Amino acid sequence: MNICVVALGKIGLPLAVQFASKGHRVIGADVSERVVQLVNDGAVPFPGEADLDVKLKETVAAGLLSATTDTAAAVAESEAVVVVVPLFVDAEGVPDFGWMDDATRAIARGLKPGTLVSYETTLPVGTTRNRWAPMLAEGSGLTAGTDFHLVFSPERVLTGRVFADLRRYPKLVGGIDETSAAHGVRFYEAVLDFDERPDLDRPNGVWDLGSAEASELAKLAETTYRDVNIGLANQFARFADTVGVDVTKVIEACNTQPYSHIHSPGIAVGGHCIPIYPRMYLWNDPAATVVRSAREANAAMPEYAVDLLAAAYGDLTGVGVLVLGAAYRGGVKETAFSGVFPTVEALRRRGAVPYVSDPMYSNEELAAHGLPGYDGEPLGAAVIQADHAEYRTLSPADLPGVTVLVDGRRVTDPERWTGVRRVVIGG
Ligand SMILES: NC(=O)c1ccc[n+]([C@@H]2O[C@H](COP(=O)([O-])OP(=O)(O)OC[C@H]3O[C@@H](n4cnc5c(N)ncnc54)[C@H](O)[C@@H]3O)[C@@H](O)[C@H]2O)c1
Repeated sequence: MNICVVALGKIGLPLAVQFASKGHRVIGADVSERVVQLVNDGAVPFPGEADLDVKLKETVAAGLLSATTDTAAAVAESEAVVVVVPLFVDAEGVPDFGWMDDATRAIARGLKPGTLVSYETTLPVGTTRNRWAPMLAEGSGLTAGTDFHLVFSPERVLTGRVFADLRRYPKLVGGIDETSAAHGVRFYEAVLDFDERPDLDRPNGVWDLGSAEASELAKLAETTYRDVNIGLANQFARFADTVGVDVTKVIEACNTQPYSHIHSPGIAVGGHCIPIYPRMYLWNDPAATVVRSAREANAAMPEYAVDLLAAAYGDLTGVGVLVLGAAYRGGVKETAFSGVFPTVEALRRRGAVPYVSDPMYSNEELAAHGLPGYDGEPLGAAVIQADHAEYRTLSPADLPGVTVLVDGRRVTDPERWTGVRRVVIGG
C-alpha cells in the first residue's frame, strides 16, 4: 500500500515508521521543514520514544519512508491517509480547529476516488461526520462514503512506548458508513500486529465500534473516566485529611475488591490529554455535571497543596519555597498543563518566593517556560510536584533550610525525612 501520514509529531512519526516497517510505502507530510528534513535524513526530531531512532533509520534506508511538506501531493499518491494533526481547546473547552482545518483542506486538494481517510486526533463527538466529511468533499469535489472512505480511529498510545502500546490495545475504528468502516478495519489489520490479550472478551485486534461517533466517544470517555476517577480520589484525600486517615491505605484496601479501581490522589493532573479531553467532552455535553465537578476538583489541587504547606509552615510571606518537578509527570520532559504553573501562582498569592527545579530541565529551559529556576537561594519549604524517580532518595540534606516538605505525589521515602515535617495529600 501507499500510505500518507499527516503530521510527523510524537504520535504521527512512530505511526509512519510502524506502517513502513510492515513493508508499505509511507510518505509523511508535515508543515515543518525542519521535521521533514530530519526525517528524510533518518534522524528523530524529538527524544524519548523507545526504538524510534533505529526503526526510523531502517525504514528510511529501505526507501519505505520519506517526508514532504506537500500534503496534497503525498495524498494524491496514497490509498490511505492517516491524520494526527493536533487539536487544541481553550480553558472553556472550545476547540480550535485551525491546524486540523488547514491539514484537511490540503488533504482534500489531493484526494482521489477510492482513498481511505482516517482521523486519529482526539475530537469532539460528531467532528468526523459533520466537519471533515463536508470539508473533504468540498475541497475534492468527491462524495464522502461514495467516492472516498472516512473513519475515526482514536490514538490510545502513550508517548515513550508507542510501538508496544500499538500491539497491546485493540485498535478502535468507526466509519461514517459501513463501507468506510470495512476499509478502515482492513487498513489497520494490514499495518498493525497485536499481542494476545486473554483478559479481553474479544480477540485483540481491530474493533469496529459501529459509527464514527462511537469511536470518537470511546476516546473521550476513557480519558474523561480517568479525570473523574482522580477527582473522586482527590475528594476522598481531602476528606481523609480532616479525619486523620491515610487515604492511600484505604484506596489500596478498596481496590482489593475487583469492582473498585480508585486512582491515586495528588497535587495536579497535567499533560496534553487527561485535563483536556474532559473539557472537549463538556463542549459536547455541557450538562455533564459529574465531569465538570471532577475537573474543578482536580484543578483546585495545587492550591490545596499550598494550603497544606501554609497550615504546616505558617505565614509564607517572603519564604523561599522550592517546587520540585516542572514536568507534568515523572520521567517525561513535558510541561503541558503541568501542575507546576498553578503551584507557583498559588505560592506567589501567599507572598512566598517560589523557585523551580527539575532533573530534566536547565534553569534556562525553565525560564523559557516562564518558571523561576533555583540557584541555591535560601529556602524554608519545598513542594514536590512531579514524581521523578530521583526524588525517591531525596533527603533533608539535599534541601538545607527546609523545615516543611509537602510531597504532592508521595514519592519521597518517609524514613529519610525524620526531623523535617513531611506532609502528604490525604495523609
Ligand atoms: N502525545 C500524546 O501522548 C498523544 C497520545 C494519544 C493521542 N494523541 C493525539 O495525537 C495528536 C497529535 O499529538 P502529537 O503529540 O503527535 O503532536 P506533536 O505536537 O508532537 O506534533 C504535531 C505535528 O503536527 C505538525 N503539523 C501542524 N499542523 C500541520 C498541518 N496542517 N499539516 C501537517 N502537519 C502539521 C507539526 O509541525 C508537528 O510536527 C494529539 O492532538 C492527540 O489527539 C497524542
